[in-house]
Amino acid sequence: MSSSEISYVELASRGPIPEGLTVLRVLVGPPAAGKTTLCAHEEHRFGTRLSLDDARAGLGAGTHDQDATPAAVEYVRLQAHALLAMGADVTIDATSTTRGERATWLAIAREHRAAAVAVIVWAPWPQVRARNARRARPVPEDFVKDCWDRVTGLTAGDLIAERFQVVLERRPPDGSVRGPATAPTGLPCPRPGGR
Ligand SMILES: Nc1ncnc2c1ncn2[C@@H]1O[C@H](COP(=O)(O)OP(=O)(O)OP(=O)(O)O)[C@@H](O)[C@H]1O
Ligand SMILES: [Mg+2]
Repeated sequence: MSSSEISYVELASRGPIPEGLTVLRVLVGPPAAGKTTLCAHEEHRFGTRLSLDDARAGLGAGTHDQDATPAAVEYVRLQAHALLAMGADVTIDATSTTRGERATWLAIAREHRAAAVAVIVWAPWPQVRARNARRARPVPEDFVKDCWDRVTGLTAGDLIAERFQVVLERRPPDGSVRGPATAPTGLPCPRPGGR
């Protein structure tokens, strides 16, 4: 899959992102939905990818080490601050399925007057479940399902109310639809929330 084959729907927006504004992109998706894979395909458009998994691996016993999560969040927060202060775009590669998790990143965007862009990364439950199960260290399935349920029920309005500037959804490559909440309210947007 090349970058040109990835498409997005703009679900909602508070208005266009002004030219020259730095972007903090927050991926929102359950484990195994394809967030890191998307970042790999979009490495030229997503700015610097900051991964909570990578931070957990560096600071703790591995990507799965939830005890390392607080330190990993702090580490990623500091990196995001430094990058945004330099005017570099940042993409947060983490599940960010709860309002509280997203609030961490939104606060940083606010502080740096960066545009916060949410990118929903979703795939049908059988796919997510199977991909997770195939991993060397599957994430507990109940947790994955809770995350999947939250993302499935998320509306663009929820994310706009949290103060995201733009809400995009990556179209699942197999053409499946997340649910009634994904009905596009804006024009198809070929760009991943960049300029
Ligand atoms: N479009 C796709 N088609 C087929 N397989 C895919 C696709 N996207 C991702 N995968 C596969 O699904 C698995 C999970 O993808 P990925 O690691 O990107 O998920 P993730 O959302 O980053 O998960 P986590 O939140 O656990 O880091 C990988 O094995 C990846 O190769
Ligand atoms: Mg990942």
